[in-house]
Amino acid sequence: MLSYRHAFHAGNHADVFKHLALSLIVRALQRKTSPLCYIDTHAGAGRYDLTSREAEKIGEFRDGIARLWRREDAPDVSRAFLDILSAMNPNANLRYYPGSPVIARELLRAQDRMVLIERHPTDHLRLAEEFDRVPRCRVEFGDGFELLKAFVPPREKRGVVLIDPSYELKTDYKAVVALLSDAVERWATGTFVLWYPLINRTVADQLLRRMLVTEIPKILRVEFGLGKPALGAGLWGSGLVIINPPYQVDEQLKRLLPWLRRVMKAAPEAPCTVSWLAAE
Ligand SMILES: C[S@@+](CC[C@H](N)C(=O)[O-])C[C@H]1O[C@@H](n2cnc3c(N)ncnc32)[C@H](O)[C@@H]1O
Repeated sequence: MLSYRHAFHAGNHADVFKHLALSLIVRALQRKTSPLCYIDTHAGAGRYDLTSREAEKIGEFRDGIARLWRREDAPDVSRAFLDILSAMNPNANLRYYPGSPVIARELLRAQDRMVLIERHPTDHLRLAEEFDRVPRCRVEFGDGFELLKAFVPPREKRGVVLIDPSYELKTDYKAVVALLSDAVERWATGTFVLWYPLINRTVADQLLRRMLVTEIPKILRVEFGLGKPALGAGLWGSGLVIINPPYQVDEQLKRLLPWLRRVMKAAPEAPCTVSWLAAE
């Protein structure tokens, strides 16, 4: 059994970056009133208590969400995400942090639907409890790499798939590309968001090269981090591969990231880029 538990990392810089991007992608898709489907292949527990033993153990959220919490100068594009956080923490204290499923739930409209997949029994249980009685939400226990094909294309024909593995298995780096290749073939117009860690630049570049080989068009590559890129420095940054990003999401991210970099006190050499990996 794999041992990764997201509770130890919730609210860190990679989460904040990914969740800000996710919220602006969902909001951008909602410019149209037609229904959309949100699919999370590696959903985690849904919400996290930052006062828990797990979150406190490394305290990664202190260099992450704690730096953004209650900032008065947040740009408009970060509003959707920060409003969810404020609603979860109505008092002055930052205690709860939303995982990607809770962010999606708070953003989805009455006409939208969500599918959440998680393989860790404990996190699946927490997720199922959090989403018990949530209408138009399906929670699946199992392997996101295997199960995704059963849900794409969704009947709505519009929506977003978040692929956010733990990369605990080295094979995940190849598996995500195969997964995307197959899913895009089934659903060419879907928006797909793949998260990848920046721990080793060479490994991340290999993943990006494999993405290019798929010849999937319209891929945006976004990277953000706090640390100086160096082997042995842990998770100094992370990246998102966004296939079919909604209109203007690239421009929104270009406005957002310099602010995020400033408030999160990123090192001058830390990654902060928005560029096209593959054109239309
Ligand atoms: C990085 S966490 C997900 C965080 C979540 N997407 C969020 O942003 O709040 C990765 C999750 O994938 C789960 N996982 C690992 N392998 C999986 C697999 N093959 N299928 C589904 N879930 C898996 C882990 O248990 C963990 O909860």
